[in-house]
Amino acid sequence: LKNTPANIVIFGGFGDLAWRKLIPAFYNLFIHDYMPKQFAIYAVHYQGLPEGAYEKHMLEGVNLFSRSGKAKKEEWKRFTDHLYFFQGDFTIEDTYTRLKEKLEANDAEWKTRATRLFYYSVAPNFIETISSFISQFNIADNRQKDRLVIEKPFGTDLASARALNELLNKLFYEDQIYRIDHYLGKEVVQNIVAFRFANHIFEPLWNNKYIEQIQISVTETVSVGTRGSYYDKSGALRDMVQNHMLQLLSLVAMDCPGNYDAESIRHQKVKVLKKVRPFNSASVAQHVVRAQYTKGVVNGKPQVGYKEENNVSRKSTTETYVSLKLYIDNTRWKGVPFYLRTGKCMDKQASEIVVQFKDTPYKIFKDDVVPNRLIISIQPRQRISLLFEGKVPGLEMKLMPLEMDFSYKRSFTDEAPEAYETLLLDALHGDATQFIRADQVETAWAIVMPILDNWVKDSSDMKKYKAGSSGPVEAENLFSDGKVKWLSLPEE
Ligand code: BG6
Repeated sequence: LKNTPANIVIFGGFGDLAWRKLIPAFYNLFIHDYMPKQFAIYAVHYQGLPEGAYEKHMLEGVNLFSRSGKAKKEEWKRFTDHLYFFQGDFTIEDTYTRLKEKLEANDAEWKTRATRLFYYSVAPNFIETISSFISQFNIADNRQKDRLVIEKPFGTDLASARALNELLNKLFYEDQIYRIDHYLGKEVVQNIVAFRFANHIFEPLWNNKYIEQIQISVTETVSVGTRGSYYDKSGALRDMVQNHMLQLLSLVAMDCPGNYDAESIRHQKVKVLKKVRPFNSASVAQHVVRAQYTKGVVNGKPQVGYKEENNVSRKSTTETYVSLKLYIDNTRWKGVPFYLRTGKCMDKQASEIVVQFKDTPYKIFKDDVVPNRLIISIQPRQRISLLFEGKVPGLEMKLMPLEMDFSYKRSFTDEAPEAYETLLLDALHGDATQFIRADQVETAWAIVMPILDNWVKDSSDMKKYKAGSSGPVEAENLFSDGKVKWLSLPEE
């Protein structure tokens, strides 16, 4: 694949995502020798920039955000030989005429039709325009070689996601469309499939006979920061649950795919999502909690309340936190509650999946036994831990919970690639396994729609939580038996 040349076009190539993630990822792939020998990146941006300004800004991004730290002068110079700033308005023909010339000139120079990757790092309202021009100019007309990578948000509800799918599927083949969810590129997330299906000891236990409940938490300490205008129209359910969290749910809950390939895996993921019990007004009221942060302190720094954030309506009814309980109506998961929660400005940053097993059916010890727990910690710590009961050394039979612990830091010396590196390389290679298919996106929207619809009708259920806290107290009420709480990996 190193010998397959590639033309990469980033629409919105001067934007925040390109600065923080995309260019640092391409740079890392380049210095670790994963990029093709011949490639060109065109960063399309509507405004002109002074000579050298683009490279300077991107170097700053690489220095700040790249996992390999500050760029070395020589390596950066070699990388920028492949990086071109391309001034062009996405909404006019001239941009595509010039782009086409560049792509074809490279093909001629490289003496082959190169792979073409079109990355939409743009506001959703540009997707249609850009796609129509790409199609009109026939620049993604090679089904095997040309791919379109589409960033989230993919629609704002089921109807708009469907309309977007229809539009894209009219202009391109589904197998050319790479809907990105960067959680799927995270190392530990990719390991869930390996952990579940390459270790036969877990699969027999992975069902309602042995599992009591499963919790999926993505808590963040960051606020909405500079993203107020986007976030206030979105909220936690659209921003995190519809995509990242339902993807985690499908990986944890799906059946074993027939093969390790894009279609088999995506088939199983959709199949299980389709079995999520639909929410209705009663279950939304009972099993979903939404909340907004109020003024507080996060990581020792004062934090304003959500309604005081820039570009957020002072009367906003947008949730910055959501937790919910759902059920999957199939044989494997009948009766097992899945608890999901995510929020901004919380007390800690942690993306974790906790599988809580059932209590021992028969007690022979006088000590209380804590049921076994398997904790898959995605970030910031990358670990998989199994909590079990053991004997405390001594003359008595005294029990305590202990941990069998696999840590990436201890087991692997090499630093894991960033999610975007993995995903961009997959897209260059034409591997869609970690990307979202049209039906997955629609199924995930169908799950959250009844919640959104109910929320629109009445916002009186909006709860509050103090910035820097562990979320609204009402979220604890989701646990009907009152004993279980939100669980997480024990502190080191
Ligand atoms: C993005 C959301 O998709 O994911 C952000 O739009 C969120 O609001 C981010 O902060 C979380 O990603 P990560 O990789 O930092 O956990």
